[in-house]
Amino acid sequence: MMLETKRLILRPPKESDWADLVEGAKDLEVSRNLQMIPHPYSKKDAMSFIRRNLEHSNARKNGVYNFFIELKSDGKVIGVTTVDLSKGDKNVGKTGSWINKKYWRKGYMLEAKVAVLDFAFTKLKLRKIETAAFTENTASNKMSRKLGFKQEGTKRQAVTALSTGKVHDEHIYGLLKKEWKERRPYIVNEVNMKAARSP
Ligand SMILES: CC(C)(COP(=O)(O)OP(=O)(O)OC[C@H]1O[C@@H](n2cnc3c(N)ncnc32)[C@H](O)[C@@H]1OP(=O)(O)O)[C@@H](O)C(=O)NCCC(=O)NCCS
Repeated sequence: MMLETKRLILRPPKESDWADLVEGAKDLEVSRNLQMIPHPYSKKDAMSFIRRNLEHSNARKNGVYNFFIELKSDGKVIGVTTVDLSKGDKNVGKTGSWINKKYWRKGYMLEAKVAVLDFAFTKLKLRKIETAAFTENTASNKMSRKLGFKQEGTKRQAVTALSTGKVHDEHIYGLLKKEWKERRPYIVNEVNMKAARSP
């Protein structure tokens, strides 16, 4: 499965992506906000993640789509975004993501999320997408709210970040298909403005 936006290709991983993956994921500013990324992050960690997700073989088996986010301009992989259908109701997905710190605040994740949410609601025909963010993760909480996700609660001491061993409270969010339809034009406009500033 491949998705295309103005500046990005969202695609399954290739083994040759390992160095880009290490560059982004070894940064504690990225991994401390996520549950499953170890620190330090090695070539071995990257290769094992890539092999588990090659050609989305897992998506058909387990319902986990890990899209690698590639910059069209130079082919570099700058992050990962996920749609996970492996647990719970089959019409409700979970999404999570990260971007290499060098590429933050250029609208790349907003742009990737438009493609991923369209894919989830239109192609996968989901009725709802859920996400979660550590309560102190301002960037992720703001991004979820900006995309139109509604906060549905806060789970106390819910997650241990593998990179730091720290236990976090997390805010839980949900976005319904009709809410995305209403919010989408505003986000697309924002993405176009950001892309014009940072092509
Ligand atoms: C969260 C993250 C994916 C955002 O990626 P990004 O490409 O920089 O985000 P965008 O440039 O598309 O910004 C989208 C919106 O997110 C919010 N946002 C992003 N970074 C922010 C920051 N540092 N402070 C406040 N809000 C921020 C804003 O609402 C922003 O819209 P705006 O610029 O119009 O205000 C990135 O910061 C990241 O990888 N963080 C570490 C890993 C992580 O937290 N992942 C999410 C776990 S749930």
